[in-house]
Amino acid sequence: MDVYSENILSGRSAFIAGGTSGINLGIAKRMAQLGARVAVAGRNPDKAAAAAAEIGEGALGRSCDVRDFDATRAVLEDVASAFGGLDIVISGAAGNFMAPAVGISANGFRTVVDIDLNGTFNVFRASYDLLNRPGASLIAITANQAVNATMMQAHACAAKAGINQLLRVLAMEWGPHGVRVNGISPGPIRGTEGMARLAPTDEAVAERAARVPLRRFGEAREVADSAVFLCTDAASYITGTILNCDGGAGLGDSSDKNLVA
Ligand code: HXC
Repeated sequence: MDVYSENILSGRSAFIAGGTSGINLGIAKRMAQLGARVAVAGRNPDKAAAAAAEIGEGALGRSCDVRDFDATRAVLEDVASAFGGLDIVISGAAGNFMAPAVGISANGFRTVVDIDLNGTFNVFRASYDLLNRPGASLIAITANQAVNATMMQAHACAAKAGINQLLRVLAMEWGPHGVRVNGISPGPIRGTEGMARLAPTDEAVAERAARVPLRRFGEAREVADSAVFLCTDAASYITGTILNCDGGAGLGDSSDKNLVA
């Protein structure tokens, strides 16, 4: 039996930036399955069209780069007009690579901050007057790097820390207008581009899973169910929160080798 009632999101419309692959596509598919009208956006128009087809009938696939405010705004206007406003907006577009700070150029650092942090501002800011208020729910996809300094991730740590603070400020400023703003911090999720970059070999995957308290990678579906929760009335008094959907990974390394008799 499903944990959610069938059609729990019916009558709601959702826009998912970065929803053409990975965790965000998982969120889009789950929301559509639960009755929402869904639009995804990504940089590549072919990928956007393919994602919409995979999500199913009525889903929209649009292309824009979240670094470009005007392009993002144009896509949001188009989707809001097709759906009659927006109830759910998810900012999930992200870029990352592994490199020590001395291996990152100013442009490399700026690129990741631009996609992750400025992109989240652009998506949320551009959607504000298109939101169905009260009742709209915004979710930023962040990461544990926001709170735990991680070597080879200076750019992602800085960008994700910015996202955490941005969403808290928006929760304060937009709460009085009936808009909730939360974040989800996924741990290592199986089959994502992010994990392909951060744990590229079977050995790296096994080593990383052994450090997670729940001893496994998560599934995109598990992150999607957290996102659905934050958009339902079950979370109607929750705003400014960052939900760790990470198997406890953010708590630290829980490998057996750390148990000293
Ligand atoms: C050092 C690198 C690099 C690397 C790129 N750059 N890869 N520097 N080491 N491995 C530098 C480039 O040299 C360039 O700087 C600058 O970054 C911009 O690169 P471009 O390729 O021109 O940019 P763009 O095409 O916009 O690509 C953005 C990108 C790319 C972030 C670099 O990796 C990308 O498109 N990623 C999107 C998909 C992705 O990363 N998904 C994973 C997200 S997972 P110079 O100075 O040479 O011009 C994720 C999980 C988060 O974010 C969990 C942890 C936070």
